[in-house]
Amino acid sequence: MKVLAIETSCDETGVALVEGVKTEKGFTFTQIGNAALNSQAKLHAEFGGVYPNLAKREHEKNLPVIMEQALRDASDEQIDAIAVTQGPGLEPALWAGITFAENLAKEKNVPLLAINHMEGHLISSLVQNGKLEDVQLPVLGLLISGGHTEYVLMREWFNYEVIGETQDDAVGEAFDKVARMLGLPYPGGPQISKLAEEARRANLQSEKKLPRPMLHDKNLNVSFSGLKTAVLYTLRDMGGIQHLSTEQQMAFAREFEDAVGDIFIAKTRRALDETNAQTFVIGGGVAANKYLREKLVMFIRDEFPNVDIRLPDLAITGDNAVMIAEAALARALSGIDDVAREPLRAYSNRFSILAPK
Ligand code: KG4
Ligand code: ZN
Repeated sequence: MKVLAIETSCDETGVALVEGVKTEKGFTFTQIGNAALNSQAKLHAEFGGVYPNLAKREHEKNLPVIMEQALRDASDEQIDAIAVTQGPGLEPALWAGITFAENLAKEKNVPLLAINHMEGHLISSLVQNGKLEDVQLPVLGLLISGGHTEYVLMREWFNYEVIGETQDDAVGEAFDKVARMLGLPYPGGPQISKLAEEARRANLQSEKKLPRPMLHDKNLNVSFSGLKTAVLYTLRDMGGIQHLSTEQQMAFAREFEDAVGDIFIAKTRRALDETNAQTFVIGGGVAANKYLREKLVMFIRDEFPNVDIRLPDLAITGDNAVMIAEAALARALSGIDDVAREPLRAYSNRFSILAPK
């Protein structure tokens, strides 16, 4: 089965054509043509965040071009269904993709599959070398992006429960805001990560420590706004960033990343203890973070040696259409046809609402 997928939930316009095949152990996926992606990050960088209406206009402008790129070497391919992100995301941006996808499905006379963006992150992150196979349930997913931070439990396929989440800012948002306070450009995650890595290499420690909010709370929720405020005050105490040496800036970035790592390790330990999950997976833009990946792998191998750890390819941690195609294919090939439900609505609500019961 071949699915052409469209993703426009935030500031990336993505189109991908993916073929999925059911196997004895699960599914295999093959990309056909190019997975075309256009990032508006530079455009929004000026504002230090994403502007929904600007994103919408850009998606509308980019979609036909991106689709042509995606299908350049695949124009003769038979397409069996169109998949589109229906949410969560920025409402105007989502509508650009949904409208485009609806027209395309009509034109090609194929079904339209509505896919949850977070499900896309989760399912695609479980894929290894094009294979979604041998996945042991329950799966514990840690989804970390610019808009979301949540622990999701999948006890049965395509049935999701959000068992913990941020009480305020998403972790990617915290990375971005802290980067801005340190005078670094948007998106700030990769910038902080680079500085922190240099600090570790040079063995630089920050003289100022940051808090680890909610570390000892007996639940799976996290919070980053207090950490962000602590960064603001600490930088002020240090005399403002103009008085920070390069070494101090690097050490401070490290301290922030360490704090985030400590929080996720403590909460993941609790989540694995409580759920007895057999598989652990991370997904979303922040899942590209090298330090977090290494830290989580080391701790799970050490404390939960029987848990299968899945890390997404760096090519699909950020928003993209391949993940939407894979989630749509996994569902459709499992015989779940409720994805082509009702007239589409741009969902901005929670993940679990979309899960079929
Ligand atoms: O999933 P994503 O592309 O978009 C959303 O759905 O939000 O995630 C974007 C977020 C941004 O906040 C960005 O700073 C963060 O992912 N990010 C990182 C890294 N790469 C991207 N955060 C920390 N370390 C990274 N290496
Ligand atoms: Zn995302």
